[in-house]
Amino acid sequence: MLKNYSPTKTEAWKNLQEHFKTVQPQHLRDLFAQDPARFNKFTFHLNETIYDLSKNRISEETLRLLVQLAREMDVPGAIESMFTGEKINATENRAVLHTALRNFSDESLEVEGENALQEVRQVQEQMRTFCNKLHSGEWTGYTGKRIQSIVNIGIGGSDLGPKMVVEALKKYQQPDLEVYFISNVDGTDATEVLRRLDPETTLFIIASKTFTTKETITNAETARGWFLHKAVDREHIKKHFVALSTNIEAVTKFGIAQENAFRFWDWVGGRFSLWSAIGLSVACALGYDKFEELLRGAESMDKHFRQEPLEKNIPVLMALLSIWYTNFFGCQTHAILPYDQYLRLLPEYLQQLMMESNGKNTDRNGKRVDYQTQPVVWGAAGTNSQHSFFQLIHQGTILIPCDFIAPAESQNPIGNHHPLLLSNFFAQTEALMKGKNAEEVREELTQKGMKGDELEQLLPHKLFEGNKPTTSIMMKKLTPFELGSLVAMYEHKTFVQGVIWNIYSFDQWGVELGKQLAGAIEGELLQGKSSPHDSSTSGLMQYYTENK
Ligand code: F6P
Repeated sequence: MLKNYSPTKTEAWKNLQEHFKTVQPQHLRDLFAQDPARFNKFTFHLNETIYDLSKNRISEETLRLLVQLAREMDVPGAIESMFTGEKINATENRAVLHTALRNFSDESLEVEGENALQEVRQVQEQMRTFCNKLHSGEWTGYTGKRIQSIVNIGIGGSDLGPKMVVEALKKYQQPDLEVYFISNVDGTDATEVLRRLDPETTLFIIASKTFTTKETITNAETARGWFLHKAVDREHIKKHFVALSTNIEAVTKFGIAQENAFRFWDWVGGRFSLWSAIGLSVACALGYDKFEELLRGAESMDKHFRQEPLEKNIPVLMALLSIWYTNFFGCQTHAILPYDQYLRLLPEYLQQLMMESNGKNTDRNGKRVDYQTQPVVWGAAGTNSQHSFFQLIHQGTILIPCDFIAPAESQNPIGNHHPLLLSNFFAQTEALMKGKNAEEVREELTQKGMKGDELEQLLPHKLFEGNKPTTSIMMKKLTPFELGSLVAMYEHKTFVQGVIWNIYSFDQWGVELGKQLAGAIEGELLQGKSSPHDSSTSGLMQYYTENK
């Protein structure tokens, strides 16, 4: 079970507070100048991806103390508890076993009296057979036409993961099959997707772990109505609707044939579910073999995470760095900056993964924490982001650690685009690290012929403090395998952060209040019921009623 102890009470935490005083004034520029081996010392490899931590504000001593913190908080014990299926999601009394979804060993793993790995294999076979039928044209729509469009209807973890992966691996997509996603309960989302489609050649995947999520059920009903408007006979539903869920009873009640239900289990958290049946849209888009490569990439990170010592363990080190910045530097945000257009949805996906997992203020004792937990995660693809918010990262008043992510090989090598893209990737991390001091600015302006007051007035605006921490993640190529490994790295990083912050990372009670209130207000809006609200909420509802 997870240790229940405040991280601030550990020896390591106290040592880190002292150590921070020596690191804080140091400039990365000097650390690089003093140690030519810094890149090698702080770069870690797995498969064909490198994780360069050297542009972070750390020394070997920092890592030693952070690893000591991980040890005192029993991170190794927590890792074992997760992999072996202990019920570490204590507030929901559940095991946390997304790793079982990509475990290709011939071990067995007992959960609630069943061999979880065997059940996983059965569903994987069902997914493979389904994909093969779809791609070979054996599975047709009700008029005998081939399926040309797949629409995943889901939200949160039942949308963000598959959507991000389908976009990231577009280059591997099966020909003649388009994949769409509907998530928002705003009717615009469904309308804009459906207007492009033909019911005869469209297959809907209703993805919902609980099969009770209001947004998803509403969108699914709209899709069913749209389909039946043309197909008329409900019998045809079975050729056009499949479901991914733990709640098979609700699936059947909705009208989806039992043989079209792909199940998973409550030991798979929603935001960790893309490896389960929830990944069916990915498998349809890429073909099952490519989906399996994604799983195998994740499995390789799982093995690394479970076996490597803390000092060389990439997800552990990434988590420790985040704790270093959050709890010692006081950073409140973390930017994810993929330099690959295909990865443009990664920041959005990681927002749910990290902020829904660790956006908690209550520790495992049920007490309010007296230290900061999850920082805000945000970001966007480079180079676009350079022309929107990079100004603030370079010259703003807050310190923002960033992850830069790029593939060495482009999947679309036209002209000089890729070297240009990567020049920006390298230049930004270098500029953020080095900055530009007064001497350099003065020289630059003098060379341009500027002098006197004019020069002195402009100079402070052209200064860059530098010393802004970045982690660079470079992979040879964005393959399904490397993507699987990268995503699993972020999952494990999130878990380790939660372990150290002494919080429960696998529940999400914080989204419940909004759902409850929306349910009550929905009744008021649709059935004219009324109940008391504060003056702002009542005023807004009245404005809506009068203006709709
Ligand atoms: O936002 C809350 C949440 O429960 C997420 O954790 C989950 O991914 C999402 O809703 C969707 O849930 P479901 O898959 O059950 O429809």
